[in-house]
Amino acid sequence: MKVRRELAICAGLLLVGSCGNIGAPPHAGQPTVQAQSMAAMLVDIDQVREFVYGGGSQDAARNAADDLVSWSARMVELFPPGQASTDYVDMSPQRVRDAPAAMSRTAESLRAAVRTGNRAIIGDQLARAEKDGCGACHLSNTR
Ligand code: HEC
Repeated sequence: MKVRRELAICAGLLLVGSCGNIGAPPHAGQPTVQAQSMAAMLVDIDQVREFVYGGGSQDAARNAADDLVSWSARMVELFPPGQASTDYVDMSPQRVRDAPAAMSRTAESLRAAVRTGNRAIIGDQLARAEKDGCGACHLSNTR
């Protein structure tokens, strides 16, 4: 009975996009918070892109940009200098040191752009966030 109720709650949470690990032992088969942060930021980027391409709503894009700013502010904590460069082969100490600021700066510019509602302006800042923000860690220009 208990299990069934937890599943129902879980299904409800899925509708708003997160279903944690209710009923599961902590961390069992869970993605790392680092991986979760990346997945969430990718969703945010895609949400803003949808608006740029004429879909979605400005509200949704604004929420996504806010979320991106929040995650960006956690990059230092999630990828600490001195640690991340040993955990991840392609993250040089220089990259780890500079990336969080670049990510935050570009995410904040994107948020400001989204507030204008102007798709061309938002598109420019989106490209910049991907190239200079995400790209500060990711070798390719986008993801
Ligand atoms: C501070 C450095 C850094 C920044 C900035 C960054 N990433 Fe990442 N990203 C990583 C690292 C390191 C991994 C590997 C994480 C892991 O496997 O735990 C990763 C993995 C990913 C993945 C694969 C996730 C998975 O499930 O394994 C995606 C997708 C991704 N990043 C997208 C993005 C996007 C989109 C942005 C910009 C909004 C971004 N990243 C910005 C460092 C960064």
